[in-house]
Amino acid sequence: MKNKFYVTTPIYYPNDIPHVGHAYTTIAADVLARWYKIKGYDVFFLTGTDEHGKKIENTARKHNKSPKEFVDSLIPKFKDAWKKLNLDYDKFIRTTDKDHEKTVQEILQKVYDKGDIYKGQYEGYYCTGCEAYYTEKDLDNGCCPIHKTKIEKLKEESYFFRLSKYQKQLLEFYKKNPDFISPSIRKQEVINRVKEGLKDLSISRTSFDWGIPLPFNKKHIAFVWFDALFNYYSATRKKGKEKFWPADVHLIGKDIIWFHTVYWPAFLLSAGIQLPRKVFAHGWWTFDKEKISKSRGKIINISELIGIAGADSARYFLLRHIPFGEDGDFSEKVLVERHNNELANKLGNLVSRVSALAEKCGAEKSENKLLKKLKLNEIETYIKNYGFDKALNEIFAFIDSCNEHIQKEKIWETKNKKQLYELLDSIKAIAILLWPFIPETSEKIAKNLGFEIKWDNIKKPLGVKKIRKSEILFNKI
Ligand code: MSP
Repeated sequence: MKNKFYVTTPIYYPNDIPHVGHAYTTIAADVLARWYKIKGYDVFFLTGTDEHGKKIENTARKHNKSPKEFVDSLIPKFKDAWKKLNLDYDKFIRTTDKDHEKTVQEILQKVYDKGDIYKGQYEGYYCTGCEAYYTEKDLDNGCCPIHKTKIEKLKEESYFFRLSKYQKQLLEFYKKNPDFISPSIRKQEVINRVKEGLKDLSISRTSFDWGIPLPFNKKHIAFVWFDALFNYYSATRKKGKEKFWPADVHLIGKDIIWFHTVYWPAFLLSAGIQLPRKVFAHGWWTFDKEKISKSRGKIINISELIGIAGADSARYFLLRHIPFGEDGDFSEKVLVERHNNELANKLGNLVSRVSALAEKCGAEKSENKLLKKLKLNEIETYIKNYGFDKALNEIFAFIDSCNEHIQKEKIWETKNKKQLYELLDSIKAIAILLWPFIPETSEKIAKNLGFEIKWDNIKKPLGVKKIRKSEILFNKI
């Protein structure tokens, strides 16, 4: 049986069109999915939208639409953005999908029957932006700690989930599974907070009705995070997809780590479902050093992102520029510099020079000694550990070696067919390794040189055929 790999992104709120921050997580998931695909794994890559809750209900009202009409109008924009970025997901889940709603209700009933849900009174501060309750202590001058907006105090009848009951089990789970929360700096923050104690969690609301009703009391709507988190599981409740659970990794932004590493495993423990293997929380992109925000005009949507230098360059920049897990500032200038200096000058020139010479002089099969400089094991280890930037640095170090080899050996003068073959064969390896990051470009190279993009072909000698000079892969800006 083939190994499986199941990767997810957060499901995004469709209250506006997606921006570079949403693209970031989804591109990283796409890179992993493609990487494991070429390695021969059976891959399931899930993304989608989180469509219930007060935030969506409020935004829909502002647009004079029903919540469903409103979200229906936004979903094509998400799908279109992901298509333009070449994000090849296997399923796009929507929390308004009937089968998802059914799974969530079944689980709520199960958890209720077990005695982990009870009725009480909730009094607290609710931020609609976060769709989450805060205590007075959490507030920042009476405002939401994340959104810095004034926060409403609510009092209502509510059902509670016995989160406190799971404190010990969670701490044991973190201990037994030291890789569950990554990167490690985030792990300690979570563990320390859990050690301080966990309060039972309000998991239902009665003040609005855009959501999934509790099966045991239809007047109550399920807390949107209970509904949303189960998307990862409900997507695997389809024939043929069951084998993908548990998820191998949930990629998320650091803003939602608490929901994914405390609430989510506690809900699963209560429901008697196996826990996911890993949650990786990446850093936060700012735009001109400020928080990405539509109201302040500090935003870059997907068409703008692709408009700078194309989809491959955007994908490449986002993963190369900062280590996954750290924060970074989005700069159009730096994206263009990397596009020009790395993609056009290093990769583009290598392919164009070598293919032009091979067209003129031909190539003769020989052992590829250059490949010894390719640190394949290191690259694999980096990817396994989410070090996308380091993997790219290593691939580009090999591209540098190929370019230096051309200079040193003056291949344009010697026209040595065996050396040209070695370079073509090296370009093949480069294109396969870069495919998860820049699929469009790699596919052009593969078509021109005549090889298939799969792992075993990295070391399998390239078949010799008539080579044509490659089209320009990256136009300098
Ligand atoms: N709907 C919830 C997630 C539910 S998952 C069961 C949600 N949605 S969101 O639309 O607000 O998207 C949050 C995610 O978008 C973040 O966790 C992160 O993955 C990504 N990002 C949004 N803005 C970002 C940045 N400025 N920088 C990096 N990632 C960002 O929360």
